[in-house]
Amino acid sequence: MNNITVIGVGYVGLVTGTCFADLGNSVLALDINKQRIENLRQAILPIYEPGLKEVVERNIHADRLRFTTDYKEALKDAEFVFICVGTPEGVDGEADLQYVRMAAESIAQNMEHPLIVINKSTVPVGTGDWVANIIREHQPKPIPFAVVSCPEFLREGSAVRDFFNPDRTVLGSTDREAAHRVAQLHLPLRAPIVITDLRTAEMIKYASNAFLATRISFINEIANICEALGADVKEVAQGMGYDKRIGHHFLESGVGYGGSCFPKDVKALAYMAQVHGTNPQLLGAVMDINKIQRKQIIIKLEDMLGDLKGKTIGLLGLAFKENTDDIRVSPSLDIAEMLHEAGAVVRGYDPVAAENVARSHAFIQLAEDPYEMTTGCDAVVVATPWNEFKSLDMDRIKKAMKQPVLVDGRNLYDPARMREMGFQYRGVGRGFKGGGSDLQ
Ligand code: UDX
Repeated sequence: MNNITVIGVGYVGLVTGTCFADLGNSVLALDINKQRIENLRQAILPIYEPGLKEVVERNIHADRLRFTTDYKEALKDAEFVFICVGTPEGVDGEADLQYVRMAAESIAQNMEHPLIVINKSTVPVGTGDWVANIIREHQPKPIPFAVVSCPEFLREGSAVRDFFNPDRTVLGSTDREAAHRVAQLHLPLRAPIVITDLRTAEMIKYASNAFLATRISFINEIANICEALGADVKEVAQGMGYDKRIGHHFLESGVGYGGSCFPKDVKALAYMAQVHGTNPQLLGAVMDINKIQRKQIIIKLEDMLGDLKGKTIGLLGLAFKENTDDIRVSPSLDIAEMLHEAGAVVRGYDPVAAENVARSHAFIQLAEDPYEMTTGCDAVVVATPWNEFKSLDMDRIKKAMKQPVLVDGRNLYDPARMREMGFQYRGVGRGFKGGGSDLQ
């Protein structure tokens, strides 16, 4: 059993702290938000994440997971301190490090014995050294500490499963012994552990996210070419994926990537590259293609409906992806905004994100279920690939719509089947105009 403190109980902090507690460690999770901590003591979670609540409850009950807002208490018995605070996007695309700075200063001011400080937040290359300097400068008296970078690779919607089944653990530090002690913490996860220097570990995180974003933009570009040439991108991706050098993951074309990581991290990496005098051409193209993918949906709607002014368009799914209530940089909401600007009436349905959308996008008329949402619509756009959309009663939907126009931004449906049912169907990259192949 190790004494672990986690600073910040957003996605990363809450999942990391809870799962380390579940591995038998004693975890104290700190956040400066009092209400959040009060709620967590009663197992009320600030986020929706499948399976997390049960693990939180189990570990609170076993007294392995506790919560506090007090830094003195949080650091009193800690051996390992994980910094898991947010690093939002700054004005120019650089990461905003104010919360990391606050955490580092508070650690410095409140630590009373040697500590290993582990950074999990995605931070610009070089931040580990910067954090070490801040701690050194703010300590009332010198106490030894080490800084280790341990980037997280959790995906929202499957974060608990991802924590217990990582592909690898990456650790970077100038202090090898500290890195080895953090490696010990991760041994129960039985994944390969890469130990390297601080900057390389920080770069691994950016390079990994940028590579995955590149795969998505790549397949989206191929999708657009497929539409021009009459090929089906879903089958192209399948055919490519059997090549072991390529693999099947992250080759789903659609409305482009969203969420709190890929858009921010690709931009931040490009910014870092530019500031340091290199020209990140590929990253620029990845971001441009991602923007175009959202626009394509509007172009398809205009192609089928003409002027969108006054037309009622329904969005199936509002979260940035399935199994989450997270709406940060949601492609669906980008599309909603474009539709709103074009003068359309925008409706929406999402199984869990509706509450968040009601707070941020008052112009979207939210419905209680997909059938209510689609009734009277001039067009429906599939914007988030929730499982429950895969077997909707499409006949009922078609009959209730004003016009049977269906733009499948996530390629959930079979184009031929939808056309047979009488829909004017457009997918992404599925034959001429995204409408299906000529194979009958
Ligand atoms: C991502 C990384 O996967 C994770 O390792 C990192 O820690 C945080 O960022 P997340 O943002 O939760 O995780 O979601 P992910 O499943 O990676 O999807 C990101 C976006 O890409 C979503 O908008 C998703 O819909 C989209 N996507 C994903 C595609 O459009 N096509 C794909 O093939 C895969």
